[in-house]
Amino acid sequence: MAPERTLSIIKPDATRRNLTGEILSRFEKAGLRVVAQKRLLLSRPQAEAFYAVHRQRPFFAGLVNFMTSGPVVIQVLEGEGAISKNREVMGATDPQKAAPGTIRRDFAENIEANSVHGSDGPDTAAEEIRFFFSTMEITG
Ligand code: CMP
Repeated sequence: MAPERTLSIIKPDATRRNLTGEILSRFEKAGLRVVAQKRLLLSRPQAEAFYAVHRQRPFFAGLVNFMTSGPVVIQVLEGEGAISKNREVMGATDPQKAAPGTIRRDFAENIEANSVHGSDGPDTAAEEIRFFFSTMEITG
């Protein structure tokens, strides 16, 4: 099987608590490789555009406020079955429902400040990677 790529974001609650390295280490231990990475303070329009699919949801305004409240560290992760592997390592969106040993169970503050984002399928992964990275910035 060809290696797959997924888009991952270490969110402001995690960068604020200096957990970037700890979270990256979880990805690497799971066999995921960081093939691109950048640290950014998202603008409001960038956060709104990235989460556009959630525009009608009641949590949208809070989500945009949270995602612009501090720096994020965004990476492209590569590996066999990278999309599902990353989702396993992250755990469920709601940390109270996340399995023991997952990033969200161990680090998330609540369902909004849930430490990490990961693409939910191949089409979203391609779209989200394109949103943040040019081909030239990704080196496998
Ligand atoms: P993420 O995987 O980045 O996708 C959408 C984000 O919205 C989610 O993680 C959470 O940070 C945030 N969010 C806040 N409230 C909710 C909710 N009730 N259901 C799902 N996502 C939520």
